[in-house]
Amino acid sequence: MNKVVVGAQWGDEGKAKITDLLAQDADLIIRYQGGCNAGHTVVVDNKTFKFHLIPSGILYGGKDCFIGAGTVILPEYFEEEVGGLIKDGIDVSRLKVSPLASITMPYHTEVDGYTEDTAKKGKIGTTKKGIGPTYTDKYARIGLKIQDLYSKETLSEKLDVILPLKNKTLEQVYGLKPYTKEQVLELCDKYAKIFEPYVCFEWQELLEKSKGKKVLFEGAQGVMLDVDYGTYPFVTSSNPIGGGAAVGSGYGPKMIDEVVGVAKAYVTRVGEGPFVSELTDEIGVKIREVGHEYGVTTGRPRRCGWFDAVTMRYAVLVGGLTTIALTKIDVFDEFEEIKVCTAYKDTRNGKIYTSYPTDVYMHKYLEPVYETHSGWMEDITGVTEYEKLPENAKKYLARLEELLGVSISIVSVGPDRTQTIFKK
Ligand code: IMP
Repeated sequence: MNKVVVGAQWGDEGKAKITDLLAQDADLIIRYQGGCNAGHTVVVDNKTFKFHLIPSGILYGGKDCFIGAGTVILPEYFEEEVGGLIKDGIDVSRLKVSPLASITMPYHTEVDGYTEDTAKKGKIGTTKKGIGPTYTDKYARIGLKIQDLYSKETLSEKLDVILPLKNKTLEQVYGLKPYTKEQVLELCDKYAKIFEPYVCFEWQELLEKSKGKKVLFEGAQGVMLDVDYGTYPFVTSSNPIGGGAAVGSGYGPKMIDEVVGVAKAYVTRVGEGPFVSELTDEIGVKIREVGHEYGVTTGRPRRCGWFDAVTMRYAVLVGGLTTIALTKIDVFDEFEEIKVCTAYKDTRNGKIYTSYPTDVYMHKYLEPVYETHSGWMEDITGVTEYEKLPENAKKYLARLEELLGVSISIVSVGPDRTQTIFKK
C-alpha cells in the first residue's frame, strides 16, 4: 500500500515520527514539496535527528530516498544536512535529488528576509528560508532547477533572461544589491558540486522500477498552510495536501492508496495568521511547556490551543485524508479537563459555523464553541495497546473520530518509535 503522510494542521504535528514508522515498510520515500522551512525531528534509541529536507527514512539504510520536483532546495542547507548525517554515520548513498527541484538562490532568502523585516502590516512570519520567493520565480518561469547546473549553455541562456529582470526588482523594489552573471555562475558552480553525488538524472527509471513496490510520500508543513486551501495569505507557498504528492513526486494520483493525516491532540501554529482555538492564557503556556512547543527550524515559541474539529474536518476534505495519526496525546496526562472546538460562533451576529469559513480576515470575529472532556490523569507514555489506554482517553479518541468522520489508526504517546499504538 502506498501512503502519503500529510500534516493535518499548521505543521509541526509530529509527521517525522509517523513517516519514520511507516518508512520501515517502504522501499522508496519521496519528499514532495516545501524546502528547508520544514523541521522534522525523529528520536531513535534516545538520539535525536533533525531533518529539514532529507526524508527521515534515510535512517533505515537500504531504502531509496528521493527529494522530488515539487521541492525547493537551499544548497548550503542541503550540504549541511547531508554532512551532519554522514558525521553521525548514516549511509546517504541512496539519497537522490530530482534534477527538476528548484534552487533557492541567495537573492530569494534576501527578499524573504527583507519582506518580513519591513512588513508593517500583513507580516506572514515566514522562516526566512527564501521559500516564497523561490516558488514565485518557479511559477513566473524565471527559476533555476538543479539540472540547469550541469549545462553551461542552458545556464547562460537562462541567466541572460533572469538576471536583468531579477536585478531590476532587487534594486528598484527592494533596494537590495544586484548580482552579476559571473557571481551567479560561480555560485552555480559551487552548487553543482554540492548536488553532484545526489542528483538523479535516472529518476524516471527509479520511479518505474518502484511501481510494484511500496512508496511512501512525505509531506512538509500542513494542510492549513497550503497555498490554495490554507489560511491564505498566512500560508507557505506550496501544496502540502495529499494531492500535492501526486504533483511533486513525479507519480500521478493513481499511485496513492492512503493519505495519513498527522494531527496533534491539540493545535499549534508558528508565524502569523488566524487561529480560532488559540489559548493565550496559562493553559496555552502549560501545553507549550509540557509539549515542548518550540520551532525546530527557528526556535520560535509555538502558539497553542485546543483541538479544532472545524479546521480538521476541512483538512480531512481538502487534504484528501483517509485516516488520522494522532500525536502527543500524552501531553494531556496531567490535564483534568480537555476541550475540543466543535464550531465557531460569530460574535457579531451569533451565527454558528460548523463548516470552515475560508475568509480568514473575518476570523477575528469568531470564537470557539467548546465541548469539555474529562482527562485521564495518568501517565500513558508506556501504553502500547489501544485497549490498555484509560477509558477517558479512549472516549476522547472516539469522539474525535466521530467529529472527523475518519478513523484514528495511529496514536502516539511519546517521541520514541516504541511509544506508538497501532489501532486495528
Ligand atoms: P515559509 O514557508 O517560510 O514561507 O513560511 C510561511 C508560513 O509557514 C509561516 O507561518 C511559517 O511559520 C510556516 N511554516 C513553514 N514551514 C513550517 C513548518 O515546517 N512547520 C510549521 N510552520 C511552518
